[in-house]
Amino acid sequence: MTAPALALEGVSVDRAEVPVIHDVSLDAAPGAVTVILGANGAGKTTLMDGIAGLAKVKSGAIRLDGTPIEKMAPYRRARAGLGYVEQARTTFRTLTVEQNLLVSQSGGGELSTVYKLFPELDKRRNLQAGYLSGGEQQMVVLGRALVSEPKVVLIDEMSLGLAPMVVRRLMTTIGELAGMGIAVVLIEQFANLALEVGTQAHVLRKGGVVFSGPCAELRGDDERLHRLYFGGPPLTTADRDAGPAESERP
Ligand SMILES: Nc1ncnc2c1ncn2[C@@H]1O[C@H](COP(=O)(O)OP(=O)(O)OP(=O)(O)O)[C@@H](O)[C@H]1O
Ligand SMILES: [Mg+2]
Repeated sequence: MTAPALALEGVSVDRAEVPVIHDVSLDAAPGAVTVILGANGAGKTTLMDGIAGLAKVKSGAIRLDGTPIEKMAPYRRARAGLGYVEQARTTFRTLTVEQNLLVSQSGGGELSTVYKLFPELDKRRNLQAGYLSGGEQQMVVLGRALVSEPKVVLIDEMSLGLAPMVVRRLMTTIGELAGMGIAVVLIEQFANLALEVGTQAHVLRKGGVVFSGPCAELRGDDERLHRLYFGGPPLTTADRDAGPAESERP
């Protein structure tokens, strides 16, 4: 088995001194898309912020290519190979596409990789990002995370407000990123689109993991996903083993 590019062990994360994430363990393999699902407020963004260093990791270990990073400053985690496409991140609207990419460039990263992935941006290098369509703007945002050649990319709900067709186009690219050997960690509100491109899935509920397993197991099973998101009697042995549903806890 390939060694994980990102490994979390018993990670707990606080937000504004309030415990949000408890005891999360998961791996992200290079060349694969690892999907994180969960209802609004489940703690997905807080978990990503903990990994990137923007929220406080109270306990547990986070390793990037084997190196512990949980105590590093965010910029050092980025330099160590962690890219982060934050939820609701936008472009610098008055800068051109190329300038948007250049300001994020560090190390030996090549803009040509981004232009190859997104020919749409190649054609619009000198256009101010504010004039781009919503989908193209997300391509710039994703491109900005890629120009520093990360080993791991965390992507938090980049589909917000985009048409399903555009989201499909972005999902194809996310598959291509994995094809380049990057470990992609994907949070996505369109669960079934993410489960199509992903390998392993983890579902969060109230800050804890209630499912970890192959994406294929959840694909198209909206009823099971709903129960995992919101609780209710378990449908399968695997769900039961993941712990009692919220409604059954004392
Ligand atoms: N800045 C903050 N200060 C205090 N509590 C916060 C803060 N941000 C988030 N929370 C709380 O932490 C919990 C998890 O929120 P988080 O944003 O991580 O969830 P999420 O799964 O990303 O939700 P969404 O799908 O809406 O993006 C929620 O109860 C939320 O109210
Ligand atoms: Mg979120």
